[in-house]
Amino acid sequence: MFNNFPLWPERASTVASNVDALFIFLLIVAGMMTLLIFTCVIFFAARYRRRAGVRAEQVEGSTPLELTWSIIPMFVFMVIFFWGAVVYFRERTPPRDATEVYVVAKQWMWKLEHAEGQREINELHVPVGRDVKLIMTSQDVIHSFYVPAFRIKQDVLPGRYTVEWFRATKAGTYHLFCAEYCGTQHSGMVGSIVVMEPAQYEAWMGGGSTGPLSATGEKIFAELGCATCHRMDGSGRGPNLQGVFGKPVALTDGRTVMADENYIRECILDPAAKRVKGFQPIMPTFQGLVSEEQVNALVAYVKSLATAKPSEAPGKATASAGAPHDAGSQVN
Ligand code: CUA
Repeated sequence: MFNNFPLWPERASTVASNVDALFIFLLIVAGMMTLLIFTCVIFFAARYRRRAGVRAEQVEGSTPLELTWSIIPMFVFMVIFFWGAVVYFRERTPPRDATEVYVVAKQWMWKLEHAEGQREINELHVPVGRDVKLIMTSQDVIHSFYVPAFRIKQDVLPGRYTVEWFRATKAGTYHLFCAEYCGTQHSGMVGSIVVMEPAQYEAWMGGGSTGPLSATGEKIFAELGCATCHRMDGSGRGPNLQGVFGKPVALTDGRTVMADENYIRECILDPAAKRVKGFQPIMPTFQGLVSEEQVNALVAYVKSLATAKPSEAPGKATASAGAPHDAGSQVN
């Protein structure tokens, strides 16, 4: 319907029509209110204009009228609220089995890394009809990952992960914008999302992978000496990381936190903040020693250990991802 209307962006994700429907509803409500107000202004101006021989009378309140103009708008606003909440929660909740892509924003570019290992700059290739979850962080200031055709927008913050997801519904190339003013070349911080047919996508994926991100993470884990304390047999001075991700963790201060991406990230960069119960505060911070990409790889590695049994040999979990470990993969 709106394909020839240049002010209306293309719809290319599963949530796009939900967002549009709500937006159209808001437009209609606002349009009707505007019409009602202007009609009343004009009508009353004519009806109660000053005339010779007619004296103005003071009108004192009307309970039915006041109830009407309070209760009807209340219902309209409740519709907007619940409708908006449903669309919002749908957009905010990534499906569990979504494909993961790590996004690092910086002045002024987007760096994207697929969990399978492919890296891209200012371009993201995804297949049609698959849920894609973006795990995003910034290495400098606040940016915002905005894809109008998908009707998604999420701030990308330094120092933590934010998440958004989409499922593309048709092949094509769509604009990616930075929607948060981030410096002189903010307007140039653009890119594209290339949505491909699944077969095409597999072919694209097959070319030039450096191995899964979790394998890169495993390598960094070994290089930084993490494995000397975080032993797989549980005898180390740090917690065994197998089976940890996605589970609650008991802390020394009595709290329990969920081991999600942000928690793993914080443990690497600020280990003292949320110490695991039963362990000494001996882990050094890796703040400044690892890049955002390396943190992402480490998080992906810890995640890959989530399904491993505590007794399983190290490396098994990542090997199951299907791609070979490549010693030549680079981290910058
Ligand atoms: Cu990045 Cu604006």
